[in-house]
Amino acid sequence: MAANTLTDVARNVGLSGVMRLAGLATRLLPIPQPTMLVGPGASERLGQAIHDFGHRKILIVTDATIARLGLMLPMTQALTSGGTEFVVFDAISPDAPIDEIEQGVALFNTEGCDAIVAFGGGSVMDAAKVIGLSAANNKHPLRLVGYFKGLRGPAPIYAVPTTAGTGSEVTVAAVVSDPLSQRKLVIADTRIVPKMAALDPCLMTGLPRHITASTGMDALTHAIEAFIGHWGTAFTDRMALTSVSMIYQNLPLAYANGEDLMAREKMALAASYAGQAFTRANVGYVHAIAHQFGGLYHTPHGLANAIMLPHVLRFLSPSITPKLALLALRARLGDASEGSANLANRFLDSIEAMNRKLGIPSELPALRATDIPALARAACREANLNYPVPIYLSQEDCESVIRQVLPVKVSVRKRKPASTRKSA
Ligand SMILES: NC(=O)c1ccc[n+]([C@@H]2O[C@H](COP(=O)([O-])OP(=O)(O)OC[C@H]3O[C@@H](n4cnc5c(N)ncnc54)[C@H](O)[C@@H]3O)[C@@H](O)[C@H]2O)c1
Ligand SMILES: [Fe+2]
Repeated sequence: MAANTLTDVARNVGLSGVMRLAGLATRLLPIPQPTMLVGPGASERLGQAIHDFGHRKILIVTDATIARLGLMLPMTQALTSGGTEFVVFDAISPDAPIDEIEQGVALFNTEGCDAIVAFGGGSVMDAAKVIGLSAANNKHPLRLVGYFKGLRGPAPIYAVPTTAGTGSEVTVAAVVSDPLSQRKLVIADTRIVPKMAALDPCLMTGLPRHITASTGMDALTHAIEAFIGHWGTAFTDRMALTSVSMIYQNLPLAYANGEDLMAREKMALAASYAGQAFTRANVGYVHAIAHQFGGLYHTPHGLANAIMLPHVLRFLSPSITPKLALLALRARLGDASEGSANLANRFLDSIEAMNRKLGIPSELPALRATDIPALARAACREANLNYPVPIYLSQEDCESVIRQVLPVKVSVRKRKPASTRKSA
């Protein structure tokens, strides 16, 4: 739904009424799910399967790092040996900038492609979704921002995620960035969900540790925000809770030993489950704030979420204590006899402990105090108009939550006053 339309309706029936209506719509809206190939070698099997669909020519969208690492070889060899033609577009940067998507659309058209393989992290998958939608509708990506802005669906999209984080392989969303306005923009359409996806843990064994950490925390944030919001269903709750349980068990293992194929596969599945949860039940203030950090400071998406997650949850905790307690139980942090308040606190503490274990900082070095009012305004606007948040934050509340991650605060706290410092 376009923000303007939502604002108009909100004036008449009230914001909570609009959010209830939108929640009902997401329950009724059929969201297609890709056929999933899972396990070592899944990307090669996807190549064989795509060949059987008989496409004329495939556009493979990826980024330069993935191309350099040769991660696509098993899949491209499967395409070649089946006789399927393809062309590789490897120019996507983090956060899928609009101008790169335009280049992809031009290549899709000039090469006469009729299908797309997205081979990469969330940035690549989202770029591929928008390339497909933009080409099908002959519409500039900026004119697709919002909900269902294209008349026609894209050519078939197949996805091979190389990070275990965004869940974009199962979601209706594509997040792109506009370098001119320094904003991240969301394009949503049920027809951009990929037709088939391969979760191949072999592609993830070389992920740098900090990317394993931040993308894993993105998946955790999806699961938690989908669970604590108002649009959860029995299905999304099951997906979210299972995902939380799997992430608590496997993210520390994948971080400690990148070659642990079982932990990598479980993380890939957990990220997809979290994607299935939030593509219906949506996200909340952590994402709303993280998107502003991404737009203004180019903070990697998962890192921004990880830094904000404990602070937003602590602020919301009085209104979501029973849900936090349930999350603690699924994370195996205690047992039901301990009472909700204790369990909820333990869950909040465990997120901070997880961040520390994964080397995620407790503050955002790029954050400037003078930016906070505008960041909070944009985050509140995004969350209040789009997300089924447990409670609404005022501008002042949101500013104080963001202020928690100001680097100054940490350095002031750590430094002892001059009078108490011992001289050397
Ligand atoms: N569509 C959705 O539903 C959805 C959900 C959440 C986030 N997002 C968006 O996804 C983007 C973030 O995606 P991401 O977190 O996957 O990161 P990313 O795709 O930006 O990749 C991060 C870095 O990791 C590298 N990389 C990826 N896979 C690798 C591998 N296997 N080995 C080595 N290096 C590898 C990439 O080259 C890149 O430099 C953001 O723009 C975010 O807003 C989309
Ligand atoms: Fe996310």
